[in-house]
Amino acid sequence: MDYKYLLIFCIVLLLTGACTFQSGDERRKHLSSSEKIRITQYVNNGRVLYEQHCSNCHQSDGRGLARLYPPLKNSDYLRDDVHRAVCIIKYGIKGEILVNGDVYNMPMEGIADLKDLEIAEIATYILNVFADTVALVSAGDVRNYLQNCQSYDQIQVKK
Ligand code: HEC
Repeated sequence: MDYKYLLIFCIVLLLTGACTFQSGDERRKHLSSSEKIRITQYVNNGRVLYEQHCSNCHQSDGRGLARLYPPLKNSDYLRDDVHRAVCIIKYGIKGEILVNGDVYNMPMEGIADLKDLEIAEIATYILNVFADTVALVSAGDVRNYLQNCQSYDQIQVKK
């Protein structure tokens, strides 16, 4: 078998992989100006709501608190599943979870009276500022996500 082609194939794969892996800053460059404006608005409102509802546990800088409150800053758990994060904000979560390789196991209460738009702003804030992900989570996205939270074992949907 000719390994030369296999090698070329691997190099091409690596290169395309490297191109799709962009930092938040690089992805930000490709947004339209109206998308950038909306993200900025959501981030600004989200920051205020985050301070009000989340920072006493996860801290203002998102680094969490010891082994009690997991970090949102660079959290692989957050980045892996935006849908799940939206469900956690509304309904809370309990049971053991693994965040950046560390185990956390203390229940978080959901914040049931947040409106879809407020959850959208908080989610957009934590994703863009803490998770270095460029994403606009809209109120419509939140509405859709909240209809399907029962698939997560650790999240108890309250009607
Ligand atoms: C009273 C403390 C408290 C408050 C307030 C709180 N959380 Fe949490 N949060 C926790 C705890 C504790 C866990 C871990 C749950 C577990 O171990 O199952 C958690 C887990 C999470 C997770 C998943 C783990 C991670 O680090 O990525 C996300 C996302 C999250 N919280 C977001 C929020 C957001 C956004 C708010 C505000 C709307 C908020 N939390 C408010 C205590 C809190």
